Amino acid sequence: MGALVRIRDVSKRYGDAVALDHVTLDIEEGGVQGVIGYSGAGKSTLVRLVNGLERPTEGQVFVGDDEISALPERRLREIRGGIGMIFQQFNLFRSRTVAGNVAYPLTVAGMPRADRDRTVARLLDFVGLLDRAHQFPEQLSGGQKQRVGIARALARDPRILLADEATSALDPETTADVLALLARVNRELGVTIVLITHEMDAIRAIADRVAVMENGRVIENGDLYDVFATPTTPAAARFVRTVLHDRPSPDTVARLRASHAGRLVTIRVPDRKGFTAELSRAFAAHGVGEQLVFGGISEIAERPVGALTYALEGAEDAVHRLLDALRRTDLDVVEEG
Ligand SMILES: Nc1ncnc2c1ncn2[C@@H]1O[C@H](COP(=O)(O)OP(=O)(O)O)[C@@H](O)[C@H]1O
Ligand SMILES: [Mg+2]
Repeated sequence: MGALVRIRDVSKRYGDAVALDHVTLDIEEGGVQGVIGYSGAGKSTLVRLVNGLERPTEGQVFVGDDEISALPERRLREIRGGIGMIFQQFNLFRSRTVAGNVAYPLTVAGMPRADRDRTVARLLDFVGLLDRAHQFPEQLSGGQKQRVGIARALARDPRILLADEATSALDPETTADVLALLARVNRELGVTIVLITHEMDAIRAIADRVAVMENGRVIENGDLYDVFATPTTPAAARFVRTVLHDRPSPDTVARLRASHAGRLVTIRVPDRKGFTAELSRAFAAHGVGEQLVFGGISEIAERPVGALTYALEGAEDAVHRLLDALRRTDLDVVEEG
């Protein structure tokens, strides 16, 4: 499938402040595109340009065949029906019931009452809140409020759902539930999702692709597995480490050094079976003893990712020959400094 959203060399300045700096990004139709970055990276600005709430200072934004960045406001209002949006603070109407909140965009669009009631019931059923239809937002938990937000965002059958820090106000368990619901929105309804967050765990849970933003730029963009297995920028590597803890920190290395005499090497886990047996054979063949002292293997996109740190014990030249032999393979071997 092709790109549903095309962002072409877009910059956005507010006076002297540069919120976006020459951003180019394609968002595939039917996928879940994660966008991660620290606060101030430009993520929310990117979202506001995609739904046409703001216009770029330079560059173009397309959603489908529509050039969002060039359309008159009247046309944008129509198009926004096809772009759902959910927020960190839920942005529900406090004075409307759950059903009233979900019905609101349909009322604005002029849908007849009977159709509207049917649609609202279907959406509340989808998000698991049919029994809460007549309650008010303040009677709901944070996770339930976000489910209402999702139902409302889906009311006009959008092709795309923009989620801006949609789980950042929720506890970890509720976050997992809301992410699972977003994954169903993508899979069962075929809605393209843009998941904006500063939490790599959320990206890992449901994204197919991830773009990393820093200082108004997209500095890295790739398949989930590739970014986790081989991040190419320091910022991406930092985000990956918040989830994987695959290299020991400098403090841990210092502690390991105090209790292990030999060299410490970290070997990245390759995407193939039998890797640990392969390593054991190499250690034995060179007469080097090894102790596994740190590491872990996780799964990203159903493929193994991680690293193992060994303390090596043996004669200096044997260890040398072993490391040389390992480095001649495709394995990524790092000596801990
Ligand atoms: N309306 C605005 N006026 C001035 N500066 C803004 C405005 N919106 C965003 N910025 C600036 O642009 C940068 C990116 O902001 P934002 O897109 O909100 O980042 P993020 O969502 O990644 O935290 C920040 O430095 C912010 O202060
Ligand atoms: Mg933001």
